[in-house]
Amino acid sequence: MIYLDNAATSFPKPESVYQALDRFARTSLANPGRAGHRMAVSAERTLDAARHALNQFFQGDAPERWVFTLNATDALNMAIKGVIREGDHVITSDLEHNSVSRPLRALEEGGTITLTRVASRGGYLDPEDIRRAMGPRTRLVATTHAANVLGTVQPIEAIGKIVREAGALYLVDAAQSAGVVAIDLRTAAVDMLAFPGHKGLYGPTGVGALYVGPRTDGHIEPWREGGTGGDSSSPAQPRQLPYLLEGGTPNVLGVAGLAAGLDWVARHAPDALRKHEVNLLQIVVDWVNESGDWKIAGRWEPATHVGALSLVTPEGITPQDVAAILDTSFEIAVRPGLHCAPYIHRALGTFPDGTIRVSPGAFSTPEEILKFTASLAEITSGVL
Ligand SMILES: Cc1ncc(COP(=O)(O)O)c(C=O)c1O
Repeated sequence: MIYLDNAATSFPKPESVYQALDRFARTSLANPGRAGHRMAVSAERTLDAARHALNQFFQGDAPERWVFTLNATDALNMAIKGVIREGDHVITSDLEHNSVSRPLRALEEGGTITLTRVASRGGYLDPEDIRRAMGPRTRLVATTHAANVLGTVQPIEAIGKIVREAGALYLVDAAQSAGVVAIDLRTAAVDMLAFPGHKGLYGPTGVGALYVGPRTDGHIEPWREGGTGGDSSSPAQPRQLPYLLEGGTPNVLGVAGLAAGLDWVARHAPDALRKHEVNLLQIVVDWVNESGDWKIAGRWEPATHVGALSLVTPEGITPQDVAAILDTSFEIAVRPGLHCAPYIHRALGTFPDGTIRVSPGAFSTPEEILKFTASLAEITSGVL
């Protein structure tokens, strides 16, 4: 199989990740607990080491500010529902994944918040549009870092500055950028950073993280309570991070894999990994420009792009058909449809069928991409 669906989840993982998962599962897969037996302590140490590694990689304020979650959706819900209060105004964008759009929409429908959805242009947000949307009741701005349909990288540093000046909190969805775009939390005014472990950080599915910065202290509440492996005598959830937000047994095997993936990414450097993927996409862009029948959705600016690109199919053939033929006849995996981001497809005019999203990963090769474009040419000539 030629796997070009890395924006959904990365595959394959680096060999060191498989080895770390195997080793951890065989030796340390106990329930982490600070007051427990040696295996429990070893599992807890794995969590601690991963928090330190994340904090160093993203230059966060402290290791305990890294909360492990199930995935990016879990982290985003934790952030949004944790800080929102009755009567708040929230700003978001039309680029967002449903993991941001749906919780916000539900809060709006329920009358808890008012919501402004800022429109992107060519796949990019203009920070000045965010400034204009700010109001006296704006508590939260939630935007993606790299748009999952278009692969365009947003100016989070400029947006963060505006949000901070206005005294609001900034939540960044780094699902498509963590591991391929450098994020420095000392300089970027980001208050909460959410991402999965299973995409650009090359961990397994079932794990993610939320960074909760100092400006959230006293403002974020847990949306689930439960055991934390620590002081069980208290009837209330502990107030200290990360336990405030981490009720229940964490996916410590997933965290072990995430830590190994992070280590691999740090050694290869995010920007080098991004450039590898963008160089592969340039082959697709060149083919599209020559084809005449196909179109690229959004602006193609390689310097501000991650390894995801949406193609608009020619008249008379749907993205679903193309993806099914690629799968069954050519053994190529891509993702057709709306990619859980309906607002941007409405803005692009590609709703409801969507686009074909092609997303190479660290192990994809030019030969695989050439096979992909040749297959598209064959499919198009057979149908049109
Ligand atoms: C931009 C963006 N945000 C959030 C998510 C949700 O990630 P997860 O499936 O890990 O919850 C995705 C997944 O594709 C995404 O691309």
